[in-house]
Amino acid sequence: MDKYELRAIALSGGLLAVFFFAVLYNSYSRNLDMPTCLPFEKTFEKSEVNKIDDNLYEVYIVAHMWAFDPEEIEIPAGSTVDFYLTAKDVVHGFHINEKGVNMMAVPGTINKITTRFDSPGVYRFVCNEFCGQGHQNMMGKIIVR
Ligand code: CUA
Repeated sequence: MDKYELRAIALSGGLLAVFFFAVLYNSYSRNLDMPTCLPFEKTFEKSEVNKIDDNLYEVYIVAHMWAFDPEEIEIPAGSTVDFYLTAKDVVHGFHINEKGVNMMAVPGTINKITTRFDSPGVYRFVCNEFCGQGHQNMMGKIIVR
């Protein structure tokens, strides 16, 4: 085999290892959850914030043109939140910058991610998929007290 071929193979192998390490690092060390797709038949149409116990919440978010429902969520510091996300009309996004959360809201499907909020503050979430005229107004906040 040509030495340049070997170098190309080694380089691509190395890059794969870096990507693999990045995924593992984010999911274990930074405690980030990977988004999950849930079965179609569990699709919901109403938003909900359910307190499971003092530090565990379930939030069902419906994205639509051009808002999130609910727009404001209040939880105590130290809470773990399971976000369930769907869309009513077109594809939207759901991005919490400080938490590394980035999901798509797709009509007819549900995406789920779990995140922990240790520090008090206001965490904004925005739609990061261009979804039409009012896209730039699609935002909400999570208030952690
Ligand atoms: Cu919804 Cu952009």
